[in-house]
Amino acid sequence: MLKCKNLLLLGPLLQLLLVLLIAVIGGQTETVPCKLKDAEYGKVCVCTSDYCDYLDNPTLSKDEEFALISSSKKGLRFEMSKGNFGEKDRYIIKDYEEPATETAASNDTILSRLMDQTLGKIFSQADSSTKPITRSVKLKLDRSKLYQRIEGFGGSFTGAVSYLVDNFKTQDIQDHLYKSYYAPNGLGFNLLRISIGGCDFDLAPWAYNEKPENETVLTGMDELDARDVLRLAQIKRLKEVSGVTNLRIKAAAWSAPPWMKTNNKWTGFGRLKRQYYQTWADYHLKWIDLMAKNDLPIWAISTGNEPMNGILFMVFVKFMSMGWTPQTQAIWVADNLGPTIRNSKYKDLFIFSNDDQRYTSPFWFKQMNRTRPNSLQYIDGVALHWYWDEIFGNSFVHSTSEYMANKIQIISESCIGDKPWQKAAPLLGSWERAEKYARSFLSHLQDGFHGWIDWNIILDEVGGPNYVNNTVDAPVVANTTSYTEFYKQPIFYIMGHFSKLVPEGSMHIESVASNVNLDSVAFKRPDDKIVAVLFNSGRADLNIDITDTIRGNLSVNVPARSIHTILYN
Ligand SMILES: *[C@@H]1O[C@H](CO)[C@@H](O)[C@H](O)[C@H]1NC(C)=O
Ligand SMILES: *[C@@H]1O[C@H](CO)[C@@H](O)[C@H](O)[C@H]1NC(C)=O
Ligand SMILES: *[C@@H]1O[C@H](CO)[C@@H](O)[C@H](O)[C@H]1NC(C)=O
Ligand SMILES: *[C@@H]1O[C@H](CO)[C@@H](O)[C@H](O)[C@H]1NC(C)=O
Ligand SMILES: *[C@@H]1O[C@H](CO)[C@@H](O)[C@H](O)[C@H]1NC(C)=O
Ligand SMILES: *[C@@H]1O[C@H](CO)[C@@H](O)[C@H](O)[C@H]1NC(C)=O
Repeated sequence: MLKCKNLLLLGPLLQLLLVLLIAVIGGQTETVPCKLKDAEYGKVCVCTSDYCDYLDNPTLSKDEEFALISSSKKGLRFEMSKGNFGEKDRYIIKDYEEPATETAASNDTILSRLMDQTLGKIFSQADSSTKPITRSVKLKLDRSKLYQRIEGFGGSFTGAVSYLVDNFKTQDIQDHLYKSYYAPNGLGFNLLRISIGGCDFDLAPWAYNEKPENETVLTGMDELDARDVLRLAQIKRLKEVSGVTNLRIKAAAWSAPPWMKTNNKWTGFGRLKRQYYQTWADYHLKWIDLMAKNDLPIWAISTGNEPMNGILFMVFVKFMSMGWTPQTQAIWVADNLGPTIRNSKYKDLFIFSNDDQRYTSPFWFKQMNRTRPNSLQYIDGVALHWYWDEIFGNSFVHSTSEYMANKIQIISESCIGDKPWQKAAPLLGSWERAEKYARSFLSHLQDGFHGWIDWNIILDEVGGPNYVNNTVDAPVVANTTSYTEFYKQPIFYIMGHFSKLVPEGSMHIESVASNVNLDSVAFKRPDDKIVAVLFNSGRADLNIDITDTIRGNLSVNVPARSIHTILYN
C-alpha cells in the first residue's frame, strides 16, 4: 500500500513513462488497461497505433485461488482481481470512480488502476460503508452436470471491415484491432464469418463469375476477386499477429450472380433458376477450393444468408439476397450441394442451415425433411440470426434443438440498430445495448447453443459503410476523420466476458441462482478449470454467495449494472 502511494506521488511524465514501459515489456503478452473516454452514451476505450488495452489471461497459483474479471456501466473494463475460496469475509468489487479532477484524469486513472491490478488491490475487505440497498443471491455450481460443448465465439470480416481496416493509417492500429478480438489477451475469439462474394456491408453488390453469363462451367472464377485478395491478406495478418491457433472460418453467400436468378437482379423477389442448381453448388466448391489454394481453409458454409429476404421481405430488404423456400432448399441440398461437397476433398466441411431468424425454425427443417428425407443428413448445424428474438420466444429454439438433436446450434449474426425504433448507428458508450447482448448470450448458452458469431468487427461512426445505408451498431467503431483511432464499445467487453476465458472445447455446466437478481452461465474448460459469467443488471449492488460442489464457498459483492467472469480450479 505504502509503495503504491509513493509511486503515485511521482510526476505525471514519469507515470506515463512507467505505463508505457509496462505496456511494452514482453510485447503482446502484457496487460494494458483501458484508456477510458466519455462518449455521447457512456464510456468507450480508445485505441491508437501506440496504445490499446489488453488483459493477460489469469493464472492461478493454488487450488483455492480464483480470478475475477469485471466490467460495469460506470467504467470498469476488464478489471482483474484475485482472492481465495473459503475466506470468511466478503470480497467487494469497487466500481469505477471518476477521477477527482478532469486534468491529469486519464493518465492518473490508467496508472492507479494498473497499479491496483499489479498489486491485487482492487478488493477491499468488507467495510460497512453506507450503501443504499444491497440485494443478495446464492449461486450453486455443479461441474458434474455437463451440457453442450462450446465451439467458440467470433465476429465477421465483411467488405466494410476490409475497407475500414485498409484505410487505417498504420499497420499497428490494424494489428490492435485483430489482436483485440483474436489474441489470447484480447477476446480470444476463434470463429470468423465472411461472405462469399458481397453482402450489404460492402461498397457495392458483387459475386464471383458475374461474367461470363449463362455458362455452367464457371470460367469466371479461377482466381480471387481483388476485394478478396485484400481481405485474405488482412485475415492472414489477423491470424499471424493475434496468434489464434484454432481460427475457424464460416462463409455464406448473400446472392448468386444475377444471371443465375429468376429476376436477374441482386435483390427483390428472386430465386435460383432450376437449371443452375448444380452450377450454384459448383460455385461454392470452386470458391472453397480457391480459398484453400490461397491458404485460407474454410471450416463451414451455410446454405445462404437469410433466404426469407428473397421470398417474403423484399419490401424491407434492399440489399443482396436470394430466396429459398424450405422445399427448394431441400432439393438443392439433397440433390446438388450435399453430394457435391461430400464427394469432394472438402467432404468434412460443416454445412449450416438456414442462416435466418429463429421464427423459421424448426418449421423450415421439418419442411425440408418432408421434401427430401435425406436433406437433413447433409446439415451439420443450425445457424440463427438474433434479430426478432424479442418477439419470437425461446420456444422456437427449444423445439429446434429437439428436432435437430445432435446438430450444432449457433448464432451466426447479431447486431443492434436494425429496428425502425432503434437508432441505426453506433451509440458510442451505450451500456444498455451491451446488456442486450449479455441477456441474449446468457439465454442462448443456457439453451444449449454451441457458439456465437457477431456481425461486423468494426464499423464507422454512422454504422457503415453499407451500400444501401442499412447501418447498425458495432462493438468497435473507427474514427474515419483521422483513421488513427478506434473505440471499443461496452458491447466488445460484454462479449469478451463470455469468450475470453471459455475456449473451444469447454463444456456448459449447471449453475443455479436462488433468485432473478443474478443471471449466470458456467463452463468447465478443457483444462478442468471452472468459469462462470455473473451478470447483475440491477440498479443495486449484489451480494453473491457462490457454492461450488468441490471448491466450497465464496462471497463477493458486485456493483450495480456490472458483469463478471470468474475463473477457478
Ligand atoms: C497525460 O500526460 C501527457 C504527457 O505527460 C500530457 O501531455 C497530457 O496532458 C496528460 N493528460 C492529462 C489529461 O493530463
Ligand atoms: C443470358 O440469358 C438470358 C436469359 O435467357 C438472356 O436474356 C441474356 O441475354 C443472356 N446473356 C448472354 C450474355 O448471353
Ligand atoms: C424425416 O422424415 C422421415 C420420413 O420420411 C422420418 O422417418 C424421419 O424421422 C424424419 N426425420 C426427422 C429428423 O424428423
Ligand atoms: C445513402 O446515404 C447517402 C448519404 O445520406 C446518400 O447520398 C445515398 O444516396 C444513400 N444511398 C442509398 C442507396 O440510399
Ligand atoms: C475523431 O477524430 C477527430 C479528429 O482527430 C475528433 O475531432 C473527433 O472527435 C473524433 N471522433 C470521435 C467520435 O471521437
Ligand atoms: C457454504 O454455503 C452453503 C450455502 O450457503 C452453506 O450451507 C454451507 O454451510 C457453507 N459451507 C461452509 C464451509 O461455510
